[in-house]
This record gives sequence, structure tokens and C-alpha cells, in this order.
Amino acid sequence: MSRPNRPEPMIAPSILSADFARLAEEADAVDNADWLHVDVMDAHFVPNLTLGLPVVQSLRKATALPLDCHLMIEDPDRWAPGYAEAGAANVTFHVEAAADPVQTARAIRSNGALAGLSVKPGTPLEPYLDVLREFDTLLVMTVEPGFGGQKFMAEVLPKVRLAREQVSAGHLRLFVEVDGGVDEQTISAAAEAGADVFVAGSAVYGAADPARAVEALRRRARDAMAG
Ligand code: DX5
Ligand code: ZN
Repeated sequence: MSRPNRPEPMIAPSILSADFARLAEEADAVDNADWLHVDVMDAHFVPNLTLGLPVVQSLRKATALPLDCHLMIEDPDRWAPGYAEAGAANVTFHVEAAADPVQTARAIRSNGALAGLSVKPGTPLEPYLDVLREFDTLLVMTVEPGFGGQKFMAEVLPKVRLAREQVSAGHLRLFVEVDGGVDEQTISAAAEAGADVFVAGSAVYGAADPARAVEALRRRARDAMAG
């Protein structure tokens, strides 16, 4: 029997693994995806530097896919609302970096985007269950943020399970998203634990046919959610 309150799985290819010189074409290559995941890194919150607001503004015009901006930056309270203003569909920032997550979520929402909160692998969820009532998305990192191509950490799945229980019980209304090391093997465990949005970088852009990889991931997730 399928679970109650479970939407269709959503697949969000991460352009971190795409060719940054050809982002419009790389977005087109996954036009069957649900969200396009955009990793913003500032070389402070994480030891890597990627892209920022001007690239998001340009991408917004270059693709019809909803942009799922994942801010791995210091001081998201200051910067996150700008990504909503730029037209991102979902703006997720890290609780470890935020001074006032509730205020920042409200600012994101008032600029017309969904608000997301992300937790690193070592960050527990329990202290933030009340705060999460102000959010639309919980992003559970299944690798240490900073780089693509790392190994999926199954040990964080209890947080996904806890979030799903809270949603099923009606305490929270959230997308439960996983990010890091998601591929055709690991996606089943994440879906069984209760995730409904799946970020995949290398598993999509490392494939010969990215759109087929998206479809294969979706099929695996759907099977695991129904099973
Ligand atoms: C890592 C990023 C991820 C990354 C995932 O810090 O947040 O979104 O692109 O890449 P894969 O799917 O290759 O682990
Ligand atoms: Zn990400």
C-alpha cells in the first residue's frame, strides 16, 4: 500500500556537475526534471566557490525549470531574500549559518519563493522542529556540503524519517529533500525513509543521457515510495 500524503517524487539535477560555460544548454538537457538545483557557495561557509546572484538572474531567463537555490554561504539572513527576488522557486539556506532563520524564511516567502532550511550531516533536527513550521522545504544533506561526487551518508536517514513522521502527523508541511551522493542505488533508501525531492549532480550530468538519468531516478524513487 502506498503511503498517505506522499506526492510524486521530484528530481532536482544539480548544475554543480554541469558545464558552467554552457548552463542554458545543460538546463535544456534535463527539461523533464522538476527543479533545477543551483549550488551557491562562497568559499567561507564551505571550502568551495561556485556562482552567485548574477548567474541565477541569467539562468532564470534561460530556462523554464523552477530554480532550487541551495545557499551554502555565510550570512544568509542578508543574501537569501535576493535570490527569491531574482525569481528562484525555492531558496534554501543553512541553519548553521543563519542568525534568524524565521525572519529570513519570512523575507524569502514575502519575495514570492518557497523557503528552505538545510542541515549538515552532523546537525540534529530536533532543535529546529518548531522553526520548521515557517518553512516549505527541509534539505537534509547526505554528504558534507561543498563538493559533488561524494559518497551518500546513509547514517543521516533517521533525520529524513523524523521529518516525514512530522509531516505525516500534520505537524509540518514540507518537502523533504536529500542532497549528496544520490544515485540509482542510494535513492531507494532515501525514498523509503521519506524523502520526496532528490538532488542529483554527478548521477545526472555524469550520465551519457541526463534526461534518461532523471527518468531512471524518478522510477526508482517511485518504486521505493510505493513499496
Ligand atoms: C554539495 C551540493 C550538492 C552536489 C551534489 O555540497 O550541495 O548539491 O551538487 O552532487 P552529487 O549528486 O554528485 O553528490
Ligand atoms: Zn546542493
